[in-house]
Amino acid sequence: MTKILDDLRQDHRNLALLWDLLGRELNIFKEGGHPDYELVETILDYCLNYPDLCHHPKENLVYDKLAERDPGAISAIGDLKKEHEKLTSLTWRFSTALSNVLEDEQLPREWFLNVANDFLGFSRNHMQMEEVLFFPAARKGLTGDDWAELEKAVEDVEDPLFGSDKQEKYQSLFQDIMDWKDMLEKMDADETRTKTSQPS
Ligand SMILES: [Fe+2]
Repeated sequence: MTKILDDLRQDHRNLALLWDLLGRELNIFKEGGHPDYELVETILDYCLNYPDLCHHPKENLVYDKLAERDPGAISAIGDLKKEHEKLTSLTWRFSTALSNVLEDEQLPREWFLNVANDFLGFSRNHMQMEEVLFFPAARKGLTGDDWAELEKAVEDVEDPLFGSDKQEKYQSLFQDIMDWKDMLEKMDADETRTKTSQPS
């Protein structure tokens, strides 16, 4: 494994946690409750900062290199850069819809949910495609020299949410993520205990 791919996959694991948290808040909204709007706003703010400014450009560089080495692999992956552009516009759309809902509670809930689910669905599918097609193709198609060249070209930016030097505006979101992870782990452990204590 290369450091670039390791870092990109770590970003995906982090993003998957954010998508789960978003999904939880959207379910609350769907049920007619009051989601934590501040949390949703902070997640979108993070998406427009770190993934759009660091994660996607890094993937684009790997993609360009792979296009030189293995055009066949690229045709299976599709236009990754276009997908990244679409993701950015879906993030802005969601972020604007959220501001509108906060200003006017009478806006149709269905409309907001559609905008939010467009973002969430596309993000999840895109990440899955990268894990299943793009990363394995890059691992297979690029040489050690290619990775060394890419390593020099990528700009290493500290992750302001998951990195060791967190930005203050993301501190509370980070705590929410940790609490959410703890809760999921506890639920898993409870489920395992229940299963093993049941007579076979
Ligand atoms: Fe990605």
